[in-house]
Amino acid sequence: MSEPITAAVLHGDAYARDPFPVWERLRHEQPLFHDTIDDRWLLTRYDDVAAVFRDHETYSTRPYQRIFTDVIGPTMVQMDGPDHDVRRAIVAPALVGRRLEEHYLGLVDGVVEGLFDRLPAAGPVDLIAGVTGPLPLRVVATILGLPVEEDAYLHEVTNRVIAALAGEEPARSEGIAAHARFSARIGGLIDARERDPGPDLVSAIATGRTEAGEQLSRTEIASFISLLMVAGGETTDRALSTFWWTLLSDPGLLAAVRAEPALLDAAFSEFMRRDGVVVYEDRELTRDVEWHGRVIRAGEIVRVSITSANNDESVFRDPRRFDPARPDLRLGKESRAGGRADGVAGHLGFGLGKHFCIGYQLARAEVIAATRMLLERLPAIAVRPGTEPDLRIRWFHRYVDRLVVERV
Ligand code: HEM
Repeated sequence: MSEPITAAVLHGDAYARDPFPVWERLRHEQPLFHDTIDDRWLLTRYDDVAAVFRDHETYSTRPYQRIFTDVIGPTMVQMDGPDHDVRRAIVAPALVGRRLEEHYLGLVDGVVEGLFDRLPAAGPVDLIAGVTGPLPLRVVATILGLPVEEDAYLHEVTNRVIAALAGEEPARSEGIAAHARFSARIGGLIDARERDPGPDLVSAIATGRTEAGEQLSRTEIASFISLLMVAGGETTDRALSTFWWTLLSDPGLLAAVRAEPALLDAAFSEFMRRDGVVVYEDRELTRDVEWHGRVIRAGEIVRVSITSANNDESVFRDPRRFDPARPDLRLGKESRAGGRADGVAGHLGFGLGKHFCIGYQLARAEVIAATRMLLERLPAIAVRPGTEPDLRIRWFHRYVDRLVVERV
């Protein structure tokens, strides 16, 4: 019998590079694990993680409050209950379903094309600097109806806000100031769109109302736009570059999607299950709860491991195998209700329940459009020797640090 896993293991280099054997042992031996270094209670089994996501009354997103509220003001992500529902009801119709398809998805192709047009015609191609990095923000800016010249400015605001979220000075104060300036600058645009709405997302949010007539204030609209840039930026960039690394490091898979690009949809679902990008989410307990024979007190933090849950062998057979046709994964579009039934389960890579990712359809559209363009424009590429990506957990995400290719 090997030694029990200690908190130091979860903070070590070997775990960051390959956490899967550790999670497998935790799921079997210590399904509730006290990370004494971060003082968090880690859950790693699929059903446990799904149960936490589903019960927002017991597991609050309050931990985000300390991170986000000071920097960009209050947004839906750190609210639970009716406050959250009202805000989500105002913005969600613009970001999912028919409105997204009719007004915004067409814009994604244009943004993707513009980025590929600017790639060097010969020599090495840095796919993160050239495509995956700029893509998500440019898409958000385009659907918001912001002028393309604002691109560099939006990048600066987003980077400052992200740097501020870690809470260290002077980055924190700089991020707060950057958001305040952005908020003042976008105020005029919000006024104009409210008076004379167009098909853009700022108009949709500024004129959005719940059935009871509630609307977002100016300040909240600016906070929500910052949230979109932060929540949709790095996640999509990292998902896309890591998805491309997955394809490039598996010649059989690459050949299959090249021959049949329609396979990309299922391949992306399988990627979100096997690897994804968001490794953990934290929740604060609103009451005492018992997990695996141990009582955890109100106010303590439960950390769910999404990527461990998605590799739970009791749900997904041979979980480290990449199989875009796997019968135990729901392969199409994700859903907020998710979960498992009849031997088929949804992956948890976009979360589940109340805070389920609002950008899941947009992210998928970006990934599919950009990957189709990659296969078309760069039909024969390989990772540039000497620049092999380092795929590992950094903070709450698992992703590659670089992706430089050359034509072969
Ligand atoms: C592949 C890319 C993406 C991944 C992996 C991802 C992942 C997630 C996850 C796991 C959550 C749940 C957080 C929680 O329960 O605490 C979430 C929520 C959220 N995501 Fe995404 N996301 C992605 C892309 C996007 C995009 C493109 C946008 C918007 C443009 C976006 C906006 C949001 C927002 C606003 C929330 C909070 C929703 C709420 O609190 O109700 N995400 N995302």
